[in-house]
Amino acid sequence: MKLISLQKAYDRFAPRYDEIFVHQQRPKIEALLGALPRPLPTPILDLGAGTGLAGRLLAERGEALPWSIDASRLMLEQADGPRGLGDLYRLPLRDGCAGLALCVTALLDFVDPSPAIAEMARVLRPGGWLALSVLKIEAIAAVQTGLVAAGFQMRQRLDLEQDLGFVCRRNDP
Ligand SMILES: C[S@@+](CC[C@H](N)C(=O)[O-])C[C@H]1O[C@@H](n2cnc3c(N)ncnc32)[C@H](O)[C@@H]1O
Repeated sequence: MKLISLQKAYDRFAPRYDEIFVHQQRPKIEALLGALPRPLPTPILDLGAGTGLAGRLLAERGEALPWSIDASRLMLEQADGPRGLGDLYRLPLRDGCAGLALCVTALLDFVDPSPAIAEMARVLRPGGWLALSVLKIEAIAAVQTGLVAAGFQMRQRLDLEQDLGFVCRRNDP
């Protein structure tokens, strides 16, 4: 799906997203956060943040709020904290600006995920962490290839019901 169509689809969906998906998404985010080192590396990015469910969970636990990035304005309007519109395939962020990137069920539609994963590696500092989940119906092999190609070291693989989770660390160059 082209980015503009995806934006429109999620803009339409935004008012009902939490009502429909919070019970599915929250356990995935909890499991990914649980597999990360403490204290959580900062700054934190939530890439494809949607309505900011991860940020709300972090706030409830008294942890740092993430920077939320999403293509859909109406999804993002519901997120707390700093946020900005952006494409996962061309992140509007500086190299090495983050210690942790979350990306939960946001690499979608069977588009080659490698360029987006390379962007995640670019915006993480060396040694930074990535907690990524993708729907099992997506191209999992392409995700794993993309992670290796972008210089991520796999630390944990998680079965998250509809998603597979990958907790990875960016190699030092
Ligand atoms: C299924 S929702 C997941 C939202 C959130 N991560 C969660 O767990 O609730 C997918 C989100 O990814 C965003 N998204 C998908 N592809 C994107 C892209 N290329 N650039 C930016 N956002 C994207 C959509 O706009 C949508 O808000």
